[in-house]
Amino acid sequence: MSSMNTDIEAIKSAALQAIAAAKNLDELKEVKVSHVGDRSPIARANQGLGQIPAEERAAMGKVIGTARADINQSFVDREKVLTADRDSKVLIEERVDVTLPVNRNMKGALHPLTILSNEISDLFIGMGYTVQEGPEMESSWLNFDALNIPADHPARTMQDTFFIEPVSSGLVMRTHTSPVQIRTMLENEPPIYVICPGRTYRADELDATHTPVFNQVEGLVIDKGITMAHLKGTLDHFAAKIFGAEVTTRIRPSFFPFTEPSAEVDFFYNGRWVEWGGCGMVNPKVLQACGIDTDVYSGFAFGMGLERTLMVRHGITDMHDIVEGDVRFSRQFGTGAR
Ligand code: DAH
Repeated sequence: MSSMNTDIEAIKSAALQAIAAAKNLDELKEVKVSHVGDRSPIARANQGLGQIPAEERAAMGKVIGTARADINQSFVDREKVLTADRDSKVLIEERVDVTLPVNRNMKGALHPLTILSNEISDLFIGMGYTVQEGPEMESSWLNFDALNIPADHPARTMQDTFFIEPVSSGLVMRTHTSPVQIRTMLENEPPIYVICPGRTYRADELDATHTPVFNQVEGLVIDKGITMAHLKGTLDHFAAKIFGAEVTTRIRPSFFPFTEPSAEVDFFYNGRWVEWGGCGMVNPKVLQACGIDTDVYSGFAFGMGLERTLMVRHGITDMHDIVEGDVRFSRQFGTGAR
C-alpha cells in the first residue's frame, strides 16, 4: 500500500511538473496526452484498482482520485493562463496602427471650367432657360453661312478655322458656339430661351492667354417684343451672379454679321472694365433663314469665353494652368479628395 502511494505521488508530481513546464497551448496539448488523458499513468492506475485486494481498494481509490483531481485542476489552471497569454499576444501582433500614412485612392476632381459651366447653366435654368448642345465638328454652313458670314466675308478670316479633310466635306471644328443658335431655331418654335456652353476651336498657339481649344457660352432668346433692354438686364444679372452683386456691365457698339445692332460687353471688376464677349439683337436675316417670322418675333444673343471668365474671377494669369490638367490646380477650387 505505501509503495503504491509512493508511485501515485511520483505520477502526480511528474504530471504537475510537466503541466507547469508547458510554455504554450500546443505543448500543453501533448502534456494532456501523456499525463492527463485516458492513457496517462494516473488513468491506468485508476483502471488497475480492480486488481487491488478488496480491503485496500477504497483507500487506494481515494488516493488515486485525489491525485487525479489535483492533476486535472492544475491542467485547467495552466490552460487558462496559457490561453490568456496567447490572446494578449495576438492582440499585440495583429494591432493596426491607425496613425500610419496610407496610400489613399484619390477621387476625381471636376475641372474648374466644368464647375463654372455648370454654375452658368444652373443660373440660366433658374430663369427658365434650357441647356442646348451641338457637335464640336460642325458643318461650315451652320458655323458661318447661316450666321450671315458669307464665304468671302472678312469675319471668316477673323476666326482662324480648323478645316476637316477633305475640305469638300464642308466640315470644320466649330469656331464658336453660335451655330447652336441656328440648330436651336431650326428645331424649335419660339419662344426660345437657351444657354449653350461648349468647346470651340481656333488655330491659335497655346500661350499665357490663348489656347486652340477653348470654351464659350452662348445665350439666345427669341420671343415677342424682345428688346436690347432685355439683353442688358440679362447681362447685368449674369455678371452679378458670376462676379459679385456689385458688378455691372456696359455695352459698346461693335459688329457681328449675325446681330444687328451688335455690341461688345464689358464688366466692371476690381476697378477696371474687362472685355467679356459679344452680343446684340439677332439679325433679322438670320431669323428669316431659320423660318422665324420677324414681324412677330425678335431676339437677342450673346457669347463669351469661359476661360477668360474663369481667369478674371480667380486671378489666373496663365492659360497653361487651365489646360494642363494638373489635379492640384483643380483642387484649389474645392473639388476632389485631398
Ligand atoms: N460668336 C462670337 C465669337 O465667337 C461671339 C458672339 C458675338 C456671340 C455676338 C453672340 C453674339 O451670340 O450675339 O466671337
